[in-house]
Amino acid sequence: MADKGRKPLRLDRFLVEMGKGSRKEIREMAQKGRIRVNGEVEKKSDRKIDPSADQVEIDREPVEYAATEYFMLNKPQGVVSATEDSRYQTVIDLIDGAVRRDLFPVGRLDLDTEGLLLITNDGALAHRLLSPKKHVDKVYLAHVKGRLPENAVKRMEDGIDMEDGWKTLPAVLKIIESVSTPSEEGIPVTKVTLTIQEGKFHQVKRMFEALGCQVIYLKRLSMGPLKLDDKLLPGEYRRLTEEEIECLKNT
Ligand code: URA
Repeated sequence: MADKGRKPLRLDRFLVEMGKGSRKEIREMAQKGRIRVNGEVEKKSDRKIDPSADQVEIDREPVEYAATEYFMLNKPQGVVSATEDSRYQTVIDLIDGAVRRDLFPVGRLDLDTEGLLLITNDGALAHRLLSPKKHVDKVYLAHVKGRLPENAVKRMEDGIDMEDGWKTLPAVLKIIESVSTPSEEGIPVTKVTLTIQEGKFHQVKRMFEALGCQVIYLKRLSMGPLKLDDKLLPGEYRRLTEEEIECLKNT
């Protein structure tokens, strides 16, 4: 997406950001005369360009400028919500169609949580969506082991006193399947959705724990106006539509 107000930046930085190689590789390409700016060979990789106005080519192929990218990922279990990790595959590793090299996940889902994760390099949007002052709704589908206490809906609505002396904001609990049904492993479960406006560490699991219940499956269904596309299988992603981006920016 074009960003008309962008300040001039170094040619090598621009090409690194567009995923065309490391700074050293870009310098070597420039020295070999493979890079052109506005049709002229440019051997100085540290010169400044205006990415929204100047035409940059490598080997005569235009390099499209993407200032910001936005992806919706259906995060699978076993993948970590981070940009780098020494043990696990990261959510960024899954976004193999990205141009930008500065993408990050907006917030975290636990290793064993599935569902909606926004991946972008738009720091201002991420900041707004994650700000505790903004009270952005996050809806989770949870499978809880056994039965919930009778007063579970009311207790969630009142806010839960956590073990470390902190009280959650009011949350909305909806029971989808109150009659416990045996799960694949033969454990009876209750299926619910929980809407919360915060995003503290293990928050949903800890809120159910406070009611004496264990979450055995957790999936995020939405974040503010952004809903997980049900066509996306775990591990799949797609770019956000212009409309979805607009809605998020107006959140
Ligand atoms: N709450 C949790 O407990 N885990 C998540 O991954 C997200 C919310």
